[in-house]
Amino acid sequence: MMKCISCGAEYSDDEIIYTCRQCDSILEVICQPKVSKDVFQCRKATMWKYKEFMPVDPSKIVSLDEGGTPFCKCDNLGKELGVELYVKVEGSNPTGSFKDRGMSVGITKALELGVDTVGCASTGNTSASLAAYAARAGLKCAVLLPAGKVALGKLAQAMFHGAQVISVRGNFDQALEAITALALEGQLYLLNSINPYRLEGQKSIGFEIVDELGWKSPDRIILPVGNAGNISAIWKGITEFHETGFIDDLPRMTGIQAEKAAPIARAVQNGQDDIIPVKNPETVATAIRIGAPVSAKKAIRAIYESDGLAETVSDQEILSAQKLLARTEGIGVEPASAASIAGLKKLINSGKIDKNEQIVCVVTGHVLKDPQVAIDACKDPVEVDADINALSKIIKSS
Ligand code: F0G
Repeated sequence: MMKCISCGAEYSDDEIIYTCRQCDSILEVICQPKVSKDVFQCRKATMWKYKEFMPVDPSKIVSLDEGGTPFCKCDNLGKELGVELYVKVEGSNPTGSFKDRGMSVGITKALELGVDTVGCASTGNTSASLAAYAARAGLKCAVLLPAGKVALGKLAQAMFHGAQVISVRGNFDQALEAITALALEGQLYLLNSINPYRLEGQKSIGFEIVDELGWKSPDRIILPVGNAGNISAIWKGITEFHETGFIDDLPRMTGIQAEKAAPIARAVQNGQDDIIPVKNPETVATAIRIGAPVSAKKAIRAIYESDGLAETVSDQEILSAQKLLARTEGIGVEPASAASIAGLKKLINSGKIDKNEQIVCVVTGHVLKDPQVAIDACKDPVEVDADINALSKIIKSS
């Protein structure tokens, strides 16, 4: 069953519906399985380890073994910042971002519903992931991308997996509005995170974090926020495990946005329940270059309910955090993902996060998604002949 998060109106699982017919608010899937956590033991470490919590037909699952991503204790960076730090490396998913978790459930749902075409608007990762999973399921796929603002790796993936890639003159918010209108006309099944089934897959990030910590919640989970689906999904997963009695405590959800694309952080900092959309969002972290996040209500609710925080970071802070994580821990992430580390640093410096907290930063996409940003952050390699003396001189000089 799906339920409106504002008025509580209920909708059947086999309806294709994205927003409430009564009040236009967003929907969530209600999922209350009765299981013991012992059933998870001995299962393969993918997100389907928790299949009882995934509201789709288990016989139709479309999977590339997403989930089960590395959960790295980061002592080098943790010591530098004065906290116990873990990093959940979502770039290790099949297409290099956390979107694969959502698409595995979303595409499975598409098969259940019997649709033949799926689509999304995207800042890049959603389209890369949708294209791959649609290919695996044999579905037609159309993706709308903001022209000139999608990182190269993501564009390559969407095209190479055979999606119809359409470059839209405008930003992500405008592309999303357009594809939503097409979906409402019945031309395609929409797999942006306004589709609540997407979030059912992504909630498994929350499941894995508490499972890895020995069925305990960390003090805090920090992640970048764009369209605001992921923070909502992780909180949903954690609260489901809490309600089922698998964990006793809850984390503070902490969302980080880029300074010039920060409607949620501004709303939370002003104690408001609703956002004022940002008209021309801008940031080097193109993945989160979003001014009117569709899941804002769910995200703000998650932050308030968990007594969490929201913070903004500048492009400069994002880029230096990206480099810091790469150089101190060997973890390569795309700029948007580094917003979580940049936010952590800023919140520690301003005294809003206590030293000694146990913190999990979710890093959402792989460094190779945006190779240009990584290359621009470094000096060009020196070019020499393959001469031992010349090489030796260069190596010694560094
Ligand atoms: N990090 C990365 C790498 C992303 O690609 C996104 C969103 C986010 C964080 C933010 O997650 O939207 O759930 O708050 N990317 C979407 C896309 C918008 O189209 O790929 P969110």
